[in-house]
Amino acid sequence: MNAIRSYWVEFIGDRSIKVEEGQTILSASLAAGIPHYHACGGNAKCSTCRILVIKGIEHITPQTEAEKALQKILFFPPNVRLACQSYVEGSPIHVHRIIRDETDIHLYIDEDTQSDLQNIGEEKELALLFLDIKNFTPFIENYLAFDVIHVMRRLFGLFRKCIEMHAGQIIETAGDGLYAVFGFKEDITTSVNNASKAGLSILEELDKFNEQYLGKYFNHFFQVGIGLHAGNVIVGNVGIGVNNNLTVMGLPVNVASRLQAATRELNNSFVVSKEVYDLLEDPPASDAINLYLKGIKYHLPVYLVGRAFH
Ligand code: FES
Repeated sequence: MNAIRSYWVEFIGDRSIKVEEGQTILSASLAAGIPHYHACGGNAKCSTCRILVIKGIEHITPQTEAEKALQKILFFPPNVRLACQSYVEGSPIHVHRIIRDETDIHLYIDEDTQSDLQNIGEEKELALLFLDIKNFTPFIENYLAFDVIHVMRRLFGLFRKCIEMHAGQIIETAGDGLYAVFGFKEDITTSVNNASKAGLSILEELDKFNEQYLGKYFNHFFQVGIGLHAGNVIVGNVGIGVNNNLTVMGLPVNVASRLQAATRELNNSFVVSKEVYDLLEDPPASDAINLYLKGIKYHLPVYLVGRAFH
């Protein structure tokens, strides 16, 4: 039986470690107790495991396709490699970890299982829905806090029902708004259509709630603005917040939130991005509007699928 070969790799400023054939430099360094960042869990999607190869680059296996793709985006020089994509075929090799802030290492490495590659999230294509209640402040100004809480409970119960009925999940609620995602189990076309149906059913149910309950007992009516976008986001427990709840992050989340904020300026209760509109099974007739979104560098074509505010 052939013995597994191993090679020495010196981590300058840390120590020398043995890397076995078939083992990545990242996996060996973690097994040796080096606090080596690996935010994406060794999947060539973050670049935090980067090493500068000072000596012996010829003994490291060529870049994987995933590493090449990341290098194209981040323009690393050839002597910078992803430790999670690098295998060793000889020695000596001297490397330097590029990201080395020891105070943050507990975010990535569980002290009891240092050799584990902890993945802090996975990439998923989801539909992202933001909702905000438009005329909330006048309501809280005019009613007692317990009345407000009572009405909010009913209202958010209604939103939740519409979202969950269409396979969505609420990720966060704020005082007068919420953020929900669709697509943990479905493909993106199904998720986008589910999210759109959930949004439309919220508008419809809200009309009934205003007419049958709120107008009657509180002489008030609520309107909501909804923004819907779809895209690749990171989903997982990324260690933010005290409860370590599920988090969904990425630029598409910010875009969806901005679309919701734009409902007021566009005077329409439901604004969707082109990515969403193009996937709708039964899109309502609507012309694209180029919208400048604060904080986003480019203009986005958006469509109005709701109705004007009163
Ligand atoms: S751990 Fe993310 S790129 Fe290597």
